[in-house]
Amino acid sequence: MKKVDVVLGLQWGDEGKGKVVDVLTPEYKVIARFQGGPNAGHSIHFAGKSFVLHTIPSGIFRKGSVNVIGNGVVIDPVILADEIAKIEAMGVNVADKLLISKKAHLILPTHRIIDAASEAAKGKTKIGSTLKGIGPTYMDKTGRNGLRVGDIVSPQFMERYERLKNKHIALLKQYDYKYDIAEYEKEWFAGIDVMRRFEFIESEYVVNRFVDDGDAILAEGAQGSMLDIDFGTYPFVTSSNTMCAGVCTGLGVAPSRIGDVFGIFKAYCTRVGSGPFPTELFDATGETLRQVGHEFGATTGRPRRCGWLDMVALKYAVMMNGVTGLIMMKADVMNDFDTIKVATAYELDGKQIDYFPYEAGDDLKPVYREFKGWKCDICKVRNYDDFPQEFRDYVEYIEKETGVPVKIISVGPDRDETVVR
Ligand code: GDP
Ligand code: IMO
Ligand code: MG
Repeated sequence: MKKVDVVLGLQWGDEGKGKVVDVLTPEYKVIARFQGGPNAGHSIHFAGKSFVLHTIPSGIFRKGSVNVIGNGVVIDPVILADEIAKIEAMGVNVADKLLISKKAHLILPTHRIIDAASEAAKGKTKIGSTLKGIGPTYMDKTGRNGLRVGDIVSPQFMERYERLKNKHIALLKQYDYKYDIAEYEKEWFAGIDVMRRFEFIESEYVVNRFVDDGDAILAEGAQGSMLDIDFGTYPFVTSSNTMCAGVCTGLGVAPSRIGDVFGIFKAYCTRVGSGPFPTELFDATGETLRQVGHEFGATTGRPRRCGWLDMVALKYAVMMNGVTGLIMMKADVMNDFDTIKVATAYELDGKQIDYFPYEAGDDLKPVYREFKGWKCDICKVRNYDDFPQEFRDYVEYIEKETGVPVKIISVGPDRDETVVR
């Protein structure tokens, strides 16, 4: 039996999941998103073109692929319709290769307003949400008030929409927040009409049938393990389980049907939004990572916070995801660095610790190990053995520390800039 393989981020998101899924898609028939929503921005570069996907799986550009938006995903019809139009403009017949779960929840215009009002009310303690309505939509899902894709075809759809919207309007009275949803609501219903052109499926049956038939399936994560609602740096997290367990609930796949788990990480570290980031750099090196790595949000355009690789956090994520293969991204960004640092432990209250603590505050100091930089351009390398020794030392240190092989190394944003071992 073929099992469901998984690609997910091991850090704070933006590890390069879009690129990797696009690279791996030829080996899979089905690509399925299992959680998150348009807070995600997954970039793909090929044949001189670039694209950022928010809701649609990153397999969409490959011939013959089936792309599933699973039940664990939350969908904003405006953003989905916009994505569909842009992909169709590139000559792809999206309706032929995109299936949407009936059980996926809808992000209402008022969910976005509540997200914005709640963030504004938090002031300095704000999460730094992408303001796409993610938190409020998952709240309505667990609160059992949500509206789902399957409801779109119900005769009671409008009635259910109005009921939830009115609930939100009542809730918004507690905030001193001015809003106008008329324009967005119009676009929202236009988006709903676009969605009607697609097949709404019982995705748990469809996905398990693919597994039974021996078809290769790749589950595509959004965000990263350190943004997981349970194990991330709470409350500075997103509102879904970004980890491997999310595949089971977000697609209806049993744990025994999970196959390889590919964990993606950058050779350094970034984070966008608020919250703990022990290895963050506030100096010129941090600025160099941001400029050379083009570290600006694919969804919001915000500058990403940059810092050194954090082995403590990485090992934490590897442990909880059961990672079977690592994928290292963006080492090329450090081509000119004399020295590269990696946090191997932290110092807290004068003691050294090797675990990610409950509160990772400013008093947590990383303990660094230094590596000699490779000081050359690795972007053209396509065979592992052609990498400079200093680079291989870095990779092999990570393998030894995590106990997991680094199976793919990405040396540039393009599809072709990839080294498979
Ligand atoms: P995702 O959310 O995990 O899909 O990642 P994003 O697309 O938000 O951010 C990753 C960024 O790094 C994108 O701009 C990619 O084009 C770019 N990228 C991916 N892999 C590499 C790489 O190996 N080297 C460089 N320099 N850029 C890369
Ligand atoms: P991809 O899939 C990076 C961050 C936000 C914020 C927190 C909560 O592209 O890796 P939310 O909108 O979910 O309420 O925001 O999570 N965040 C991401 N950071 N990459 C993402 O997605 C993210 N999705 C959410 O910046 O700190
Ligand atoms: Mg991203």
